[in-house]
Amino acid sequence: MAKQYIPSNIAVIGMEWGDEGKGKIIDFLAAKADVVARFNGGNNAGHTIEVDNKKIVLHLIPSGVMHKNKLVVGNGLVIDPKVLLQEIKFLERNNIKISPENLVISENAHVILPHHIEEDKKVGGKLGTTARGIGPAYTDKTARIGLKVYEFVDDAIFKKRFGEEEFYREYKQYAETLKSFVGDTAIIINNAIDNNKKVIFEGAQGTLLDIDHGTYPFVTSSNAIAGGVCTGLGISPKKVQSVLGVCKAYKTRVGMGPFPTEITSAIGEKIQKTGKEFGATTGRQRRVGWFDAVIGKYSVMINGIDSIALTKLDVFTTINKLKICVAYKHKGNIIKDFTTNMKILQNCQPIYEEFDGWWDDLSKIRIYDKLPNNAKKYLRRIEELLKVPFSIVSVGPKREQTIVARNEFLF
Ligand code: GDP
Ligand code: IMO
Ligand code: MG
Repeated sequence: MAKQYIPSNIAVIGMEWGDEGKGKIIDFLAAKADVVARFNGGNNAGHTIEVDNKKIVLHLIPSGVMHKNKLVVGNGLVIDPKVLLQEIKFLERNNIKISPENLVISENAHVILPHHIEEDKKVGGKLGTTARGIGPAYTDKTARIGLKVYEFVDDAIFKKRFGEEEFYREYKQYAETLKSFVGDTAIIINNAIDNNKKVIFEGAQGTLLDIDHGTYPFVTSSNAIAGGVCTGLGISPKKVQSVLGVCKAYKTRVGMGPFPTEITSAIGEKIQKTGKEFGATTGRQRRVGWFDAVIGKYSVMINGIDSIALTKLDVFTTINKLKICVAYKHKGNIIKDFTTNMKILQNCQPIYEEFDGWWDDLSKIRIYDKLPNNAKKYLRRIEELLKVPFSIVSVGPKREQTIVARNEFLF
């Protein structure tokens, strides 16, 4: 059951197939945090923050950039050094200073090199990957032939392994620039936790893209679930105090793979357009579906979610009837528990409950009670089905378009 004390650290986890709005929620929470630490993935992620008419999409650097947080990139990531340096420059052009004072990169993270990207472009198409070299870099890590960041920035090692490659000279320069950002992030994070600093663990992707617990093979190559916090940063499970699941009022998915509640009618198109559902990394159109409580319950179980930040409720305004999937039908049987068995999942039909919509503009509402009754009914049903309360309801992309429904789960 949900905890009832103010946590000093919060893991922010995507509950579905990524793009739930983690960046926005983390930026909102980061105002009160000391450290924001990424623990998985790489620049396949695209985390959007909107403040004062400025929109920033982050791929590698944690979503605490708008505040004075310490930013940590953990050992669980695969890092494209070229992209990382571009991102630092991009932020500097936006008057956000990134230096070794506020950004530390784990010496144990792995490096994405050009051949990983080439390989991903060749073979990733079947899965609809982001073609950023993520899978091939994690493959090398698991095969124990990867290049760790500390090896990359030590030219004696980097040259010995890759000195003959065409990319060596270019990448050697990246290594030199990045060297001063590299450190032992496990010590930094553990010290921060032990000194009662407020820490946000920033998940990339989402539960159903997790390599172990997602819709394999249509997944990414890292652990995006709350368990990934421990392996991806080097902290004990006993130290993770709270898990905040981020989910959309409806569902989206980029790339291939089963999607039981996918909407193929004009309503799907309307949601896709109103919600501006285009990938923050690849620009691809996101597939859209109704809220799926079977997935929601699964995500709550796998991550131990204490409270939920529900995003994009505003997008539903003017949609006459809303649906929530409460179970699946499979070959005449009712399935209430999510399965990652693709043979079954591909042939599941959703069983829906229907809800009346609303016509009010939600984007200026800041108090939960002021939401239209039909919106509250919709939210209440999700809470009932998932057995987890909402701590945040988001009604727009901007930081201030945020309703704090319950404070006790947040900083
Ligand atoms: P992330 O990968 O989980 O950080 O999510 P993305 O940034 O890839 O995608 C979420 C998109 O929805 C971004 O464009 C956000 O600006 C936007 N967004 C976040 N919360 C809301 C919300 O409550 N309402 C609307 N309309 N947009 C939102
Ligand atoms: P954020 O952190 C949405 C998807 C890709 C593809 C699959 C595998 O912004 O939520 P990969 O390049 O990781 O090997 O691709 O995973 N994918 C994402 N979808 N949001 C993401 O990150 C994603 N990162 C990867 O579209 O289906
Ligand atoms: Mg995204």
